[in-house]
Amino acid sequence: MIERLQAIEKIAKEKLQASVTGAELEAWRVDFLGKKGELSSALRAMGSLPAEERPKIGQVVNTIRTTLEEAFESYKTKLETQWQKAKEESEKVDITLSPRLPFLGTMHPLQRVIRRIEDIFIGFGFTVERGPHVETDHFNFEMLNLPKDHPARDMQDTFYFHEEMLMRTHTSPMQARTMQQRAPHVPLRILVPGRVYRRDDDDATHSHEFTQIEGLVVDYGISMSDLKGVLLTFAKELFGEQQEIRLRPSFFPFTEPSAEMDVRCIYCGGEGCSTCKHTGWIEILGCGMVHPSVLTMNGYTDGDVTGFAFGMGVERIAMLLYGITDIRQFYTNDVRLLQQFIAVAR
Ligand code: PHE
Repeated sequence: MIERLQAIEKIAKEKLQASVTGAELEAWRVDFLGKKGELSSALRAMGSLPAEERPKIGQVVNTIRTTLEEAFESYKTKLETQWQKAKEESEKVDITLSPRLPFLGTMHPLQRVIRRIEDIFIGFGFTVERGPHVETDHFNFEMLNLPKDHPARDMQDTFYFHEEMLMRTHTSPMQARTMQQRAPHVPLRILVPGRVYRRDDDDATHSHEFTQIEGLVVDYGISMSDLKGVLLTFAKELFGEQQEIRLRPSFFPFTEPSAEMDVRCIYCGGEGCSTCKHTGWIEILGCGMVHPSVLTMNGYTDGDVTGFAFGMGVERIAMLLYGITDIRQFYTNDVRLLQQFIAVAR
């Protein structure tokens, strides 16, 4: 009996040292000190011993129990100290480490350019309007003098939902919408920034989704010189007082006459460089006098009321202003692009 008890004590001590987790400790306690544990069953077995041996064995059992209880408590304390230490170690804060600055973005370059251009035109008395991106064929084409079979529709490859519904290919439908809303009221001076959509293959200078800013002025006696004066003043505000512009004859079905506006290359000043393809000029917008049919179709029937309109590509201008060489950089949402603008004041 004594040998059996000593064997239990030995095994118990070994197993205790092998326990590492709280669950293992608890299992050990149940196995050796619990009511159904090894020692308790040894005590119960005492019943079969001769009466004179019982006190002796009882004493041995109690000594072993006390030894094991003490061993358990001290081993448990030791483990708990280790656990606490490990926890503190893992939560340690090194206050001498230099701080990680928060990862800041900033206003997107396109939005930055839109705001600058809005500010300039607001200064001229324009109001900023917005229109639907999902447009009807009616406003995107018909009301802009582009009937169904018009060859100039091919200038803008269109995403159609069905025959009458499409993604707007330009911001010009807002010309028609605004005129219909306000005619015969004058003056009309609106600026319309927004996304437009065309079936284009994406590359460094083309995107199927890009940004335009439309301008429209309708009033009595508006002439081509008003158009030129406004656009020249705009170009000087945006690029600097020395900025020169030129208007080249062009064609749009909704303006007559139509023109494209170039600015003197802001990189080489006109000497010729790769950005301006050695022409000294960079095209930034299309414009013209509102076609008389567009005016009448949209409610301005008084022959003395005339207007001008223009539409510019915002990406193009942002690329020029900030030296961005790939249009796709605007859409990939790389915060590193934005971070370069944190230091830019305007
Ligand atoms: N809507 C034309 C385009 O997208 C630009 C334009 C606008 C031209 C207004 C003239 C007048 O190409």
